[in-house]
Amino acid sequence: MKIFLDTADISILKNAYNSGLIDGVTTNPSLILQSGQQPHDVYQQLQGLGIKDISAEVVGESAEEFLLMAEEYINIGPEITIKVPCTEEGLKACKALSDKGVRVNVTLIFSLAQAILSAKAGATYVSPFVGRCIDNKIDGIELIASISEAYIIHDISTQILAASIRDVDMAVNSLLNGADIITIPPIVFNEMFKHHLTDEGLEIFNRDWNKVQHKV
Ligand code: E4P
Repeated sequence: MKIFLDTADISILKNAYNSGLIDGVTTNPSLILQSGQQPHDVYQQLQGLGIKDISAEVVGESAEEFLLMAEEYINIGPEITIKVPCTEEGLKACKALSDKGVRVNVTLIFSLAQAILSAKAGATYVSPFVGRCIDNKIDGIELIASISEAYIIHDISTQILAASIRDVDMAVNSLLNGADIITIPPIVFNEMFKHHLTDEGLEIFNRDWNKVQHKV
């Protein structure tokens, strides 16, 4: 079970990454735009922090365009995973990259059929978008469960990377239903630590500890 952060905001990411609990980072063009930085700068900074798995999304119309952009990102280092969209051209690029031993994350997955084709194309990861499924009245958690079942039946090594996670329930239910990895915004990661009974219990323990100290 792994946890990735879904962000290109280095300052926010640093804090969560320092927890020592983060296995990788995913980005997309919208997150790069929000960061206000150029993609290469973002990826080099992530690499500098010691992050071992960084999904960099390629943009274009054809497999050739995806591959050209992928080449530039791959040169940054072995930490880079190439993220391609789940289209016919995207999967052509996925096959070419995975044949060369490059890790590929097939993104924008909304159906079991797409997850099956991505696995056939040699994807390292498939990214079902749980939150966007739910926005569109598709049961995103059920989608994860069905991909997991199909991959187990056919002994497929492609890992399920649950994406578009909006809250802690979506995160934990994805893992409970077969996701190998969740990629979550730092704000959701921070929420995962919290429980009001932990806070209440801690308050009592701290109060009692103070009383113990005063007895010495
Ligand atoms: C996945 O890799 C995407 O970057 C991301 O999870 C999309 O999330 P959103 O639907 O909240 O934009």
